[in-house]
Amino acid sequence: MTEKNATSIKRLAKLVKNPNAKVIFMVGAGISTSCGIPDFRSPGTGLYDNLAKLNLPFAEAVFDIDFFEKNPEPFYTLAKELYPGNYEPSNFHYLMRLFQDKGKLHRVYTQNIDTLERAAGILPDNLVEAHGSFAKNHCIKCHKVFVQEIFEQAINEDKEFLKCVHCNGLIKPQIVFFGENLPSLFFSSWDDDCAKLGEDHIVIVAGTSLAVYPFASLPTEVPKITNRSLINLQRVGDFKNNPRKSDVIYLGSSDHAAEQLAAELGWLDDLKILTNMTTIKLQEDENRETCFTHEDKDLKLDKVADVLEKLKLDEREPEEKAGSEKGEKEKELEVQKERD
Ligand code: OAD
Ligand code: ZN
Repeated sequence: MTEKNATSIKRLAKLVKNPNAKVIFMVGAGISTSCGIPDFRSPGTGLYDNLAKLNLPFAEAVFDIDFFEKNPEPFYTLAKELYPGNYEPSNFHYLMRLFQDKGKLHRVYTQNIDTLERAAGILPDNLVEAHGSFAKNHCIKCHKVFVQEIFEQAINEDKEFLKCVHCNGLIKPQIVFFGENLPSLFFSSWDDDCAKLGEDHIVIVAGTSLAVYPFASLPTEVPKITNRSLINLQRVGDFKNNPRKSDVIYLGSSDHAAEQLAAELGWLDDLKILTNMTTIKLQEDENRETCFTHEDKDLKLDKVADVLEKLKLDEREPEEKAGSEKGEKEKELEVQKERD
């Protein structure tokens, strides 16, 4: 861990240890990348860099309501991949749950549609899904609401695009697309919470590029007396453009931050119980941090060596794949050259 990050974790822990401390989390796709769900804007790995196969006029069209009306197919393809239930929460999700268990959680505002906050046990009253979720569907024409299962069935059984029985409009999950309003709960809840923010509150922003409004403006609206913290791979939004002296900045993986903060708070055992993890000394990463990861529930310690081997293989796979894809591209070029 870098010295700066170590200092930030200590500062954050000190704030949390205040008996009156209450935390608001504001999170995005970066807290779910370790679960296997790509984020949107990370160069190379983010969804928007990998949508070529969907034949889109521009990457964000996959979540654009006007585009969906003309061509729902790309969204169906993506939804199949992202559909909740296929993934497990991360350390960071479980850390938020721990704040709830310890009575220190005020609210979680999430932009994510993967519903992993629910899966980690964040209670409905503590959760604002700012960009909606797959929990319900609605007709984009007459706005009638339909149960979750119909969309799940449609993508699993490769059925025709869902149409409304009342008006023949297209049906889509209640995920907020570009060109649609955020749920009214987002605005009412934030108005309430923001008005209450005082010096005992801490706002922790994690795993988001703060590129999409209105969500991106929330950290800006946090009053000066309230402490803010950013846990992200790089500085973003207001933490970059209008940093405050009191901001606590951790630049790195949100899962590492979660472990380190839990350790500093004396909550590491609780975190391990929640994540049902086996602490194993995995390979030390470049920062020489020891990290742990999700394991098969019945993993025995004597199998650690096998797991390490498997992880090594898993790690090698993308590179090898990329390597072979590159090989294919090169071959293609060669063929083209020959043709020329
Ligand atoms: P982005 O992909 O825009 O940003 C993810 C941020 O998380 C980036 O700053 C990454 O550097 C950072 N990050 C990635 N992995 C991380 C890790 N392991 N630890 C810490 N940080 C990490 O995703 P969002 O900000 O969530 O809309 O995107 C906002 C909205 O744009 C989404 O809700 C989505 C999209 O269009 C809808 O789904 C409707
Ligand atoms: Zn309808």
